[in-house]
Amino acid sequence: MKLEDKVVWITGASSGIGAACAEAFCAAGAKVIISARREELLQAVRERCSVPERVTVCPMDVTDHARHDALVESLSSSVGPIDVLINNAGVSQRARAEDTTLEVDRHIMELNYFAVVSLTKAVLPRMVARKGGHIVVVSSVAGYVGTKRRTAYAATKHAVRGYFDSLRAEVAAHGVGVTIVCPGYVQTEISSSAMLGDGGQSGSTDANIARGIPASRAAHAILKGVTRGKHEVYVGGKEIVAIYLKRFFPRLLARIVRKMPEV
Ligand SMILES: NC(=O)c1ccc[n+]([C@@H]2O[C@H](COP(=O)([O-])OP(=O)(O)OC[C@H]3O[C@@H](n4cnc5c(N)ncnc54)[C@H](OP(=O)(O)O)[C@@H]3O)[C@@H](O)[C@H]2O)c1
Repeated sequence: MKLEDKVVWITGASSGIGAACAEAFCAAGAKVIISARREELLQAVRERCSVPERVTVCPMDVTDHARHDALVESLSSSVGPIDVLINNAGVSQRARAEDTTLEVDRHIMELNYFAVVSLTKAVLPRMVARKGGHIVVVSSVAGYVGTKRRTAYAATKHAVRGYFDSLRAEVAAHGVGVTIVCPGYVQTEISSSAMLGDGGQSGSTDANIARGIPASRAAHAILKGVTRGKHEVYVGGKEIVAIYLKRFFPRLLARIVRKMPEV
């Protein structure tokens, strides 16, 4: 897909990978819609883009499903029909299973899975009717490999992979593409905004995240994935090898993961 004048809607665009995607897709000629809860940060992201006039700020809490259809309707008439949806908003977890309340498990599932499903269902009928479009979901290496203190997070990232794998098969004949993105460690707010077992925020940045790749690299991999119609995109450092170990040497990987320190 060529991105010139395409309408690209990015969730979780107030920081990290989403903000970097806003800059990258705008620079590639797209009309970009950026969503998240923190409007002032969205405005700052807009100003950082090469052509701010091509960027529309649309503050929203993605878990507010009731607004999704109306938002799609109004954005489609004000900016144009959505050509690409990048489901990127998400939250991580820093707590063991037994220390995580069910409420927190549900919250992570609401944001990382049901909000993604709901927004996708809201844009999909118009894409199918127009016989074209592309939907991206940002999963994770944790969508293949579950590590300690990430039970709910890994569950959501596996869930979106399964959902979008099925969806790809359903919508291919309608000209709609699906890309599942599995980043490794990326330098963003993901660990500081991660949920503790009681619903609090971790507030600190993991060493792995601090040493991760810059968000701009992840954004460029996503952009390439969309333009080339890739089914899956793996982007990160050497931790990406875990995806292949899971496929070919699962017991070896299980031993490695068991010995990894809890972070
Ligand atoms: N960084 C990594 O190492 C890594 C690795 C694998 C996968 N990922 C995935 O990459 C995606 C982006 O994360 P990131 O690393 O860029 O982290 P981040 O900097 O913490 O960004 C998360 C984004 O999600 C938004 N968000 C959170 N809750 C929201 C809600 N209820 N409604 C709307 N937006 C919401 C946040 O904005 P507001 O707070 O303003 O709403 C923020 O813009 C996530 O799905 C994450 O799981 C990240």
